[in-house]
Amino acid sequence: MSNYDIVSKVIKERRSIFPASYINKEIPVEVINQILETANYAPTHKLTQPWRFTVIRKNGLARLGEELGKLYKQLVSPQQFLQKKYDSFAEKTSQANCIIAINMAVSGKIPEWEELAAVSCAVQNMALTAESLRVGAYWSSPPLIDDLGEFLGLAENEKCIGLFYMGYHNEKPWEPNRTSMAEKVKWIEE
Ligand SMILES: Cc1cc2nc3c(=O)[nH]c(=O)nc-3n(C[C@H](O)[C@H](O)[C@H](O)COP(=O)(O)O)c2cc1C
Repeated sequence: MSNYDIVSKVIKERRSIFPASYINKEIPVEVINQILETANYAPTHKLTQPWRFTVIRKNGLARLGEELGKLYKQLVSPQQFLQKKYDSFAEKTSQANCIIAINMAVSGKIPEWEELAAVSCAVQNMALTAESLRVGAYWSSPPLIDDLGEFLGLAENEKCIGLFYMGYHNEKPWEPNRTSMAEKVKWIEE
């Protein structure tokens, strides 16, 4: 297989795999480190390397579930509160084998959107590596992540921008739902 064949296969087969599909099988620390390591190779303007991660495993997962539930209760009005939604936080965190909080360190050296873009590139590296190792993953971005700073021990200039849920699974690859690229590309040749 050429490099193109390998890269394109992994890119096309990567899917967001959600907690309900995860099986009860531990992701070894070595595998988590293989996934994390590839984040460090993302492009980064002025080498700010803004990607920061908090790895949550074992009892940390239940604590994160509790924290999300607590924040949800605090932040929604009693009229908006839904017991089902509240329960879903603990349910999803318990289905995951590992959750990596995706954090961004804002350097002040470049516009903030460039830090966000670099972290997103880093997360895609992780998602592709996870796929290549048959680990299911997805980027979750509930509004509550804005209030996770204390739980995650983030510094003043750091911000959580998502939770990368991970778990082994038995899903077969499926065709993603995408409209054609031709609709999204303009060419200027003259
Ligand atoms: C920045 C970002 C945030 C996302 N947040 C959520 C989320 O909060 N909940 C969710 O179900 N999926 C979330 N997703 C995953 C998308 O639902 C998923 O990428 C989309 O359905 C396309 O499916 P695919 O990843 O399998 O190609 C997020 C993806 C990105 C890139």
